[in-house]
Amino acid sequence: MKLSDTGPDARPCAPEVAATLRDEVLSSHAYAVPPATGLIKLDAMENPFPLPAALQDALGQRLAHLAVNRYPDPAHQASLRAALRQHEGLADGLDVMLGNGSDELIALLSQAVRGPDGSPGTVLAPEPGFVMYGVSARLNRQNYVGVPLKADDFGLDAPAMVTAIREHRPALVYLAYPNNPTANLFDDEAVAQVVDAVLANGHGFVVFDEAYQPFASKSQRARLGQSPQILVMRTLSKFGLAGVRLGYLMGPTEVIAQLDKVRPPYNISVLNLECALFALEHASEFARQARLIRDQREQLCGLLGALPGVRCWPSQANMILLRVGDSDAQATAVHASLRAQGVLVKNISAAHPLLRGCLRLTVGSPEENIALVRSLHQALDDSRQPG
Ligand SMILES: Cc1ncc(COP(=O)(O)O)c(C=O)c1O
Repeated sequence: MKLSDTGPDARPCAPEVAATLRDEVLSSHAYAVPPATGLIKLDAMENPFPLPAALQDALGQRLAHLAVNRYPDPAHQASLRAALRQHEGLADGLDVMLGNGSDELIALLSQAVRGPDGSPGTVLAPEPGFVMYGVSARLNRQNYVGVPLKADDFGLDAPAMVTAIREHRPALVYLAYPNNPTANLFDDEAVAQVVDAVLANGHGFVVFDEAYQPFASKSQRARLGQSPQILVMRTLSKFGLAGVRLGYLMGPTEVIAQLDKVRPPYNISVLNLECALFALEHASEFARQARLIRDQREQLCGLLGALPGVRCWPSQANMILLRVGDSDAQATAVHASLRAQGVLVKNISAAHPLLRGCLRLTVGSPEENIALVRSLHQALDDSRQPG
């Protein structure tokens, strides 16, 4: 995916500034977040459920007592790391590194690595995939290689991945499990071949990005500790705290200790730390919400798949990928009609050739999902009107 896919056209700037900034910065675009005020927001895989009122009040009390005049106390961060280790059931010898969202961890990983001969490293991921792997690689002067998924079911093309891993000897191989935007889990055998190829290189990390783990039937977490080259990244965003910004990277203690050196010392604010601790203390509420979302997903997939001319892929995440037409123009028309009816989803038709005619939407609350299906019906009708 090109860096230019992430936003509107680059702005011109003064020659002194242009001469000062790196080409990767000048030629890139800010990540575009579309305005959503007044819309049903189904474009960013957020949890649609707010905290129950009693928990919201309790959280407010906790935040009110924080010393916001002080830098975050290392003990506060240590408490959250301990709580996450417990939440994840991490064995001795494994540890966690905290990021201001997984986005920051992805950027920090790109800062930390290099190629086998000391030159810039390569970041490799299947495509279509999460856009920030490529963005962070390029901004940190690493090469980026995308390997296409299989066209029909978006499965991992293991022979192509293995060939690319042997050729490029990547420093980072990301496998989003489930993948964004295709929402599927990759086949076990294909994943094993990718891992074996990276280990055979004796260079590079395989990073399993499990952002959507609360909605998935399987995980790669059991691979932690099998090799110093295997890392697993998770986030509290999809769990229910997208506004808090808390991601975490798990791996062998000595590897995490090295990677942690690139982390800014106070990257997690006292507010984030306390919210995350509070959420882990109430993990059962978030697990209940995830169950509701998984139920809603199954119902929604059934309804969307039954719409005429719509193809809906099975999902292991809180998003659904669907094809609404054969062209970008059709996807754009359906997207625009949904928006005009007050529903915001993501038009990803132009993001990758395999996604032609596709939209991606978040599974919302029952009311939001009903509104979505109704509006989509209308949007499909509108887009098929002649002229
Ligand atoms: C696969 C994947 N990884 C990571 C992230 C970023 O998560 P965070 O909110 O923790 O930065 C996303 C966000 O959508 C994602 O889809």
